Amino acid sequence: MSIIETAPNVTDAVIKHGIMDMPNLEYTAALAKETAHAYERVSSVVPPVEWPAFAPYIKAINELKKERNAVILAHNYMTPEIFHCISDYVGDSLQLAKEAAKTDADIIVQCGVHFMAETAKLLSPEKTVLIPDMKAGCSLAESITGADVRAMREAYPGVPVVTYANCSAEVKAECDICCTSANAVKIVESLGVPRVIFVPDEYLAKYVASQTDVEIIAWKGRCEVHERFTGDELRAVREIDPGVKIIAHPECPPDVLAEADFTGSTTGMINYVKDNQPKKVVMVTECSMSDNVAAETPGVEFVRPCNLCPHMKRITLPKILDSLVYLKVEITIDPDVAERARASVERMVELSK
Ligand code: 13P
Ligand code: SF4
Repeated sequence: MSIIETAPNVTDAVIKHGIMDMPNLEYTAALAKETAHAYERVSSVVPPVEWPAFAPYIKAINELKKERNAVILAHNYMTPEIFHCISDYVGDSLQLAKEAAKTDADIIVQCGVHFMAETAKLLSPEKTVLIPDMKAGCSLAESITGADVRAMREAYPGVPVVTYANCSAEVKAECDICCTSANAVKIVESLGVPRVIFVPDEYLAKYVASQTDVEIIAWKGRCEVHERFTGDELRAVREIDPGVKIIAHPECPPDVLAEADFTGSTTGMINYVKDNQPKKVVMVTECSMSDNVAAETPGVEFVRPCNLCPHMKRITLPKILDSLVYLKVEITIDPDVAERARASVERMVELSK
């Protein structure tokens, strides 16, 4: 066996793109000046005392991604210094999937969770796709396996299976078509059948059922962040300020959605705030998203019932820099699984053009 095959850090990505040196991470007066424009973008949500810890990484990442011909895709739940200062594309799961399909970069660094990086790899099989922390998972993705989907099919023969993108490639491979929170109702209705199996999010399934005549057979997965919100806490917020706008993600329980003035994907929620500029708003979703929108909408006051996604929060600037320097951690998918999973993601992308 050759040395290359046994050395732990010599991955396919390293062989293909080569190793680089770790840049200098000193915070100097010159660096403060050079990054001042980036700080301006986040100054309302990042205290000045935190900037010296972020700025050297921001400069290093922005330089290295050009040298590597890499793009950084960042989900709306990334923290502001990632979302506003180093990302090339930001968005909800559907937008990130579409960007992954069209980029001509050599490397994609997915700042989000594992299923998002897998989706990027499915749509860009020839590219090197990296995730800064392999442990960035998702409670929905962990709630179901490919064998569970096969059992559902046996229990309901002939009923097509729609899977929310928040699942593994192995689960996507067992389904007919994928969807995200931005297009779930449209995808379910596109099948033209009276009944569908919808996995893995029980609450998103309930929301879809409330918007369509198609009968929905749901799995029992839940998002550990959104299931914590309650209708009671939102009623309490509205009691204090009856004018407050409540906007919620459809992964929330039905009693939460019943209180909402608007329900939509993360980007749908952001657009609602930007377009309507409410005086006061509660974004009933992961906490960092309010910071990201607040940085761009100074006239809007945010009430923050702050639930953080522990998986999304694993993605940090130091880990993103490590990803670009050492090309880790590379996403690989079994070719047989990938072929079937890709078909279900591509059907979705095609339908949402
Ligand atoms: P979006 O597709 O709306 O961005 O949602 C992804 C997600 O993980 C929400 O918890
Ligand atoms: Fe998964 Fe919920 Fe985290 Fe989104 S917020 S990644 S659905 S656990």
